[in-house]
Amino acid sequence: MRKPIRREDALVLAHYYAPDAVQAAADFVGDSFALARKAKESEKKVIVFCGVSFMGESAKILCPEKEVYLPAPDAHCAMADMASEEEIEKMRATVPDLAVVTYVNSSARLKALSDVIVTSSNAVKVVSRLKEKNIYFIPDKNLGAYVAAQLPEKKFYLGWGCCPIHNATTAAEVRAAQAAHPDALLLVHPECPEEVRSLAAYIGSTAGIISYAERSDAKEFLVGTEAGTLYELRRRCPEKKFYVTRGDFLCEDMKKITPEALERVFRGEGTPVEVPADVAAKAAVALNRMLELGA
Ligand code: 13P
Ligand code: SF4
Repeated sequence: MRKPIRREDALVLAHYYAPDAVQAAADFVGDSFALARKAKESEKKVIVFCGVSFMGESAKILCPEKEVYLPAPDAHCAMADMASEEEIEKMRATVPDLAVVTYVNSSARLKALSDVIVTSSNAVKVVSRLKEKNIYFIPDKNLGAYVAAQLPEKKFYLGWGCCPIHNATTAAEVRAAQAAHPDALLLVHPECPEEVRSLAAYIGSTAGIISYAERSDAKEFLVGTEAGTLYELRRRCPEKKFYVTRGDFLCEDMKKITPEALERVFRGEGTPVEVPADVAAKAAVALNRMLELGA
């Protein structure tokens, strides 16, 4: 067992999908882009990342000098390995003038094989700033299609991956939710399929959805993303009403990050995140490029 970590020595970051009590205990809650930036900019030497494993890995890659802990190291994003080295090599060998653009919801190994990383909040901006005409977008086919629709000057080759939770959302279920809440504006994450995105008043990252709802004059919203986001929406807009498009819009892995798991890290029972040096060095180039182009 390690030495206990003093609370004041650590920066506790939480994603909007973490359980409410964990978000309440964090120093900063955000979407994956804001959290990566916070980790990098913090002066604290210890980061406790209340998110799934790719988030902790990305923080460690961006700040190799810091100790990064994941309260639930077994909490993984289902999409993180939905692309392969062979597929990337084949694309590089056959398509000229190609940039391999990888969604941050990916393993460190995939990031190391990429030209640049994107998140749902900066993908359009980052890709629009690339000089390459051809874009191989992995692993999320839904986010890739959303970005492609806004950048007709580029040619996109989409991967086959997706978030099983967002991808399971259907237009029929959204229409049923709209019938139950006829005055609610529909706000969805770009990981939802096209048939759902096409119904939405707004498409954006978790942080984008929250700031849209905050700025909007509407009083009711139907939210097409993980239900944990409702905690921050209700905290910021207590006078507005929020519903999720389906009752079980839940990422089970994010829910493994319990207050007890967080406490264990402070008691010295956690293991710091490690990324093999060769993988980390290559992935750092692609991640830092995102911070530069996405700013
Ligand atoms: P954000 O980029 O909006 O934080 O989303 C991350 C994610 O995992 C969505 O499922
Ligand atoms: Fe991954 Fe989906 Fe969970 Fe987001 S909601 S972390 S994309 S499995």
